[in-house]
Amino acid sequence: MKMDLKITCIPGDGIGPEIVAEAKKILDVIAKRYGHNMHYTDILMGGASIDVHGVPLTEEAVAVAKSADAVLMGSIGGDTTTSPWYKLAPNLRPEAGLLAIRKELNLFANLRPAVLYDELVGACPLKEEISAAGFDMLIMRELTGGLYFGEKKILEENGVRSAVDTLIYDEHEIRRIAIKGFDIAMKRRKKVTSVDKANVLASSRLWRSVVNEVAKEYPEVTLEHMLVDNCAMQLVKDPAQFDVILTENMFGDILSDEASMVTGSIGMLASASLNDTKFGLYEPSHGSAPDIAGKDIANPIATILSAAMMLRYSFDLDCEADAIENAVRQVLKDGYRTTDIMSDGCKQVGCREMGTLLAERIN
Ligand code: IPM
Ligand code: MG
Repeated sequence: MKMDLKITCIPGDGIGPEIVAEAKKILDVIAKRYGHNMHYTDILMGGASIDVHGVPLTEEAVAVAKSADAVLMGSIGGDTTTSPWYKLAPNLRPEAGLLAIRKELNLFANLRPAVLYDELVGACPLKEEISAAGFDMLIMRELTGGLYFGEKKILEENGVRSAVDTLIYDEHEIRRIAIKGFDIAMKRRKKVTSVDKANVLASSRLWRSVVNEVAKEYPEVTLEHMLVDNCAMQLVKDPAQFDVILTENMFGDILSDEASMVTGSIGMLASASLNDTKFGLYEPSHGSAPDIAGKDIANPIATILSAAMMLRYSFDLDCEADAIENAVRQVLKDGYRTTDIMSDGCKQVGCREMGTLLAERIN
């Protein structure tokens, strides 16, 4: 079926504009090949928005995003020690734009796959006896609750400063993300590892009991509970044990960086942030890498794979998504690498050339 797809793009900061340009290049090839129409509208977010509007996200930009079928994002933020954006109040900094759009669009489910690519095993920092087992996990991170959005306060009493962050979850928030986790496990290897800190935190004890309730609806899925500190350890000790890791916002933030690092190829990892409908925001798992911005050396593959996730999850275009993922595998087999994943005997290419090589491999 031919589709008209309205996509809001957020090029953002740092390498964002370069990698989004390559993702559009690929989407255009897909559109031509499969007969779809892609309509792009760009909005500003993060530092790019601060420079123009003085705020990291405007209401107008949110309205444009809401009117689209999906959002494709590059990356936002700059160097936190040198960029003037970080002299602003916390609620006016680039990251506040990202948190605001997640909340505004109700993107409570953040999917972060971490896969060890056969061709890139050499880049995996784990010992060979561990990497040999391979791994393919997906972190299902709650994205609009917990410490990130609980009440914050800064106090000063009798000359002593203190600060409060509130970690709060209600059972509805836990249930809806748990359902997403179990649903996706059903399409994978049917195992959920729910990660919490139930030996210390009340919110984790509620998390665990709600996850147990949801699990009853999924008799085919194996559920295990794991404490977050142990999970951090298991990720480097035996990553092959994980299929779906289900966890709250802050733990998911930390564990997903760890998981992506052990793949050795953070420039390859995509992510999706979804709400209750088919709508989603798709972005690479990596950041804005301001140090290499504008040099045409960034790896566009994570963004291109995020566009593939968009086709799959928001538009049900599985063949088209497969075509992109196959092109990525093929380009790696053919020995092309950007500098972040370069190894001996391969051909080093820049951001634009990688996009072109991938476009040639779409069929
Ligand atoms: C991420 C990032 C964000 C987060 C920052 C930029 C606010 O680290 O998407 O993981 O903490 O969620
Ligand atoms: Mg993070």
